[in-house]
Amino acid sequence: MLKIGSCDLGTKVLLAPMSGCTDLPFRLIAREHGAKFCFFEMIDAHSVIRHHRKMLKMVKTVESDRPIAFQLLANDTQTILQAAKIILPMADAKFLDINAACPVKKVIKKKAGAYLLKNGDMLCEMIKILASSLPIPITVKMRIGYEDEPIADIMRLAKKCELSGASAIFIHGRTRPQHYSGVVNYDAIKAVKDSVKIPVIGSGDVMSPELAKNMLDKTDCDGILVARGALGNPWIFEAIDSFLKDGSLSVPRDLSMVKRVVKRHMAYMQKYMECGEPSKVGIMRKVLIWYMRSFPNAKAVRGQISLVKEYEKMIELIDSI
Ligand SMILES: Cc1cc2nc3c(=O)[nH]c(=O)nc-3n(C[C@H](O)[C@H](O)[C@H](O)COP(=O)(O)O)c2cc1C
Repeated sequence: MLKIGSCDLGTKVLLAPMSGCTDLPFRLIAREHGAKFCFFEMIDAHSVIRHHRKMLKMVKTVESDRPIAFQLLANDTQTILQAAKIILPMADAKFLDINAACPVKKVIKKKAGAYLLKNGDMLCEMIKILASSLPIPITVKMRIGYEDEPIADIMRLAKKCELSGASAIFIHGRTRPQHYSGVVNYDAIKAVKDSVKIPVIGSGDVMSPELAKNMLDKTDCDGILVARGALGNPWIFEAIDSFLKDGSLSVPRDLSMVKRVVKRHMAYMQKYMECGEPSKVGIMRKVLIWYMRSFPNAKAVRGQISLVKEYEKMIELIDSI
């Protein structure tokens, strides 16, 4: 099993951090279908120290939502340290991850996220300070390059992170300009794995059990992150588990099973989301569309979903599909 610091994660297949997706209802459903370790959504350190309510709501959790880790986005050491000290008592997290992967323009402009790949000294300073000030391990999530640098550059940076006190590296096998498309570079992930002694967890296109195994086989990495592959597909965790165990593939799900799970997901949203009805139903529409994607009449249903304005009507619509 995968160990980060002295913490045994109990699995090598983790639910990735995904902003706007991996909230409490999402994680609970994923856990009910085999996800054994999850991340909160990414949290912006500046907003935490300004006590923005929305940010603090992101660390909402319940007893069955364990074990868990959190990820902070920041561009300076004192801010990330201050934010971590506020979040830690609220979150019961096993480790803290620094986001050095986000490619979004407004984040890069603030010199945070993937920008830290360009500012390795700042990233390593953050790791050093956090690792010596906090009681939990510090990890880094990075991409394989800020532009299209030689692989040796990211190997060097990973080594520097390790020497600064990082306990694991999460690595998305795409460069910043690739965002979320294009080929995942397994060789680069493998090169990073070979350059450090701490665990390396691969990310990128883990969309099926076969692709999960591919990532592990081709990179020798210690674990994998499931990201878009889990949107509307919480079953992916059980499926990966059994495929890695004995090569067995699960039977395709029928509509009634999807409906049952999606209604449960909606019920968790209704129970745990603290926003007003219109925003809640807006998010429910997005979630329902994820689930419906794999069905032949998805396009027609999409039109109906976009018209729903209340929770009860959403459930009626799901029943009628
Ligand atoms: C909607 C969305 C939000 C994401 N948010 C984050 C984030 O907050 N922090 C992070 O480190 N990665 C984030 N990611 C990246 C994923 O964790 C993952 O590394 C990436 O999607 C590649 O995996 P995939 O190809 O299997 O989806 C996000 C990805 C998506 C699609």
